[in-house]
Formats: sequence, structure tokens, C-alpha cells
Amino acid sequence: MLPELLDTARRRLEGATAGDEQGAADMVIRKLEQGDENATRGFFERIPEADQRFFKEDVLEPGTVERWTADARVRRLIAIADDGTVRGYAAVVPGVGWSKHVAELHVIVDPDERRDGLGTQLVWKALELTRELDLGKLVVEVVAEQEGAVEMFERLGFCREAVLPGHVRDRDGKEHDLVLLANTGLLAAEFQGAAS
Ligand SMILES: CC(C)(COP(=O)(O)OP(=O)(O)OC[C@H]1O[C@@H](n2cnc3c(N)ncnc32)[C@H](O)[C@@H]1OP(=O)(O)O)[C@@H](O)C(=O)NCCC(=O)NCCS
Repeated sequence: MLPELLDTARRRLEGATAGDEQGAADMVIRKLEQGDENATRGFFERIPEADQRFFKEDVLEPGTVERWTADARVRRLIAIADDGTVRGYAAVVPGVGWSKHVAELHVIVDPDERRDGLGTQLVWKALELTRELDLGKLVVEVVAEQEGAVEMFERLGFCREAVLPGHVRDRDGKEHDLVLLANTGLLAAEFQGAAS
């Protein structure tokens, strides 16, 4: 059973605008399927190295995307432009054992498409998947300095649950804090209602 919509989340969503949705209106967002491997790999090749560190596996390693399409446990979404290129990606990775009601969210948007509402749309779709998967909590990890990304998740009903000091080490050896945000019961349908 899913927890009730949090009032605090609804209040945050009042700041979200219908314009967010219009910006990425020409994209089709759907589940990753067999046949999407080359376009998906092309997308990850265009992602700057600095952003590749958000992934806990080497996305460019041969066979990775093929493995994903064969793995039904993790739900993966891609955003496809008119020309067939992949412009965004999101994954909902369910936990196991005592955390099987919790899933981790990964979302990444092509640098050329950012600030146009696509990240927001991908998170909405990921929230819809939490209902399909009967999850109670969706968590996302964001480097603390990425205040814009933290703000986006807060506007989508995520709350800061923890800050892990020095949890991320960049390529230059500098450490950064990691913010853990969680959404504990906001359904995408309810979000869309709040935003319209
Ligand atoms: C975080 C990310 C997915 C956002 O995607 P996006 O398509 O740019 O997001 P949206 O256009 O829907 O942004 C919605 C709002 O969030 C905030 N926001 C998002 N990115 C921001 C940034 N870099 N700076 C300031 N505000 C930002 C803004 O309020 C924005 O609304 P506005 O453009 O009307 O001001 C994208 O920046 C990204 O791929 N980053 C690298 C990967 C990452 O950090 N993923 C998150 C952890 S897994």
C-alpha cells in the first residue's frame, strides 16, 4: 500500500508550472526496449565525463545496455527526439530484502536539452513506475553543490533526508557532500493535478 500524499510535497509542487511540460513536448518518453541499444549508447557517449560519475556502473562498457534491456527488475526510461536520438534517461532501481519497498532513481538529460522540462518529465514518469512496482519510497542522490538539481527534486515532492559529508570524490581528488532526497508517496497523477 502506498503512503498518503504529503501536504508538504503538494505545497512544493505549487511552484511547478505547466511550462515545464511544454518545453519537452516533442519528446517521446517510453521504456527502454531491445533495439534501443545503439541510440542509448550514443546518448551516453554525448554525456560529459563529469556527469558519467552519477552512474554506479560503466555505461560505456560493451554489453552494458544489452544487459539492461534483458533485465526486467530495473525499470528504465528513455526520451526520444523526432530524429530518433535519445535525449534523456531515467532508471528506477528497486532495493532488495528489507529495503525492497525502496528504489533508487537515476536521471540524466542530454546537456543540449537541459532546462527545458525534460528532467522534470522523466521524474514524473519514474514516479508513475513506483505505483506499478508497489514501491513506498523513491530516493535520489545529488551532489550538494548542484543546487539546481536539488531544487528540481524538491519541487517534485522529494525531501532532504540526509547529507553524507565528503561522500563524493571528483577526478581531482576533491571531496563533495552528497544529498539524499526521498519521495515517500507522491504519485505522478497527483503531481500533474497539482501542477495544472
Ligand atoms: C538534474 C537534471 C536531470 C535536470 O534536467 P533538466 O531537463 O535540466 O531539468 P528541468 O528542465 O526539468 O528543470 C526543472 C527545474 O529544476 C531547476 N534546475 C534544474 N537544473 C538546474 C540547474 N543546472 N541550475 C539551476 N536550476 C536548475 C530549475 O528550477 C528548473 O526550472 P527552470 O528551468 O524553469 O528554472 C540534469 O541537469 C542532469 O542530467 N544533470 C546531471 C545528472 C544529475 O545530476 N542527475 C541527478 C542525480 S541522479
